[in-house]
Amino acid sequence: MSTDAIVLLKEDHKEMRRLFKAFQDAEEGPASQRQKLVGQILEALTVHTYLENEVMYPEVRRLLPDLEDDILESYEEHHVADVLCAELATMDAEHEHFNAKTTVLIENVTHHVEEEEQEWFPKVREALGRKQLQEIGERMIALRADAPRTPSDPKAIKKAIDAVTA
Ligand SMILES: [Fe+2]
Ligand SMILES: [Fe+2]
Repeated sequence: MSTDAIVLLKEDHKEMRRLFKAFQDAEEGPASQRQKLVGQILEALTVHTYLENEVMYPEVRRLLPDLEDDILESYEEHHVADVLCAELATMDAEHEHFNAKTTVLIENVTHHVEEEEQEWFPKVREALGRKQLQEIGERMIALRADAPRTPSDPKAIKKAIDAVTA
């Protein structure tokens, strides 16, 4: 299994796209199924955001100052998604806003993931060595076991706020 940071993050993105598609297919379906899928989406996003905010973004910012604007924009895009996730975490799938909120979350995250994969991950790949990317990846693997899994986890909330205000 690869420990390359970009490979790992792209694997997460792939799983998110799978869950997004599953939700879109279930949009007219039973509430229990939509609730379950959104729970899975929130968990995947909470873990992924934590690893990017804690490891990938600060490392890229430190090593590649030219990408600072991309990183700052990424923090803000994550923040918008965090707000939607926090609201969805307490919302019943029967609520009239549930599907609309999930759809906006999916649209926002899809846009953000495309920017990462198309606009600045390639620059990171070009600038950093294989070994550096593996070291960053290994730090993310180590942190994953300890990452928050729900938006309401105090660790997730604190980190999310720190990421855009500290
Ligand atoms: Fe991201
Ligand atoms: Fe990402």
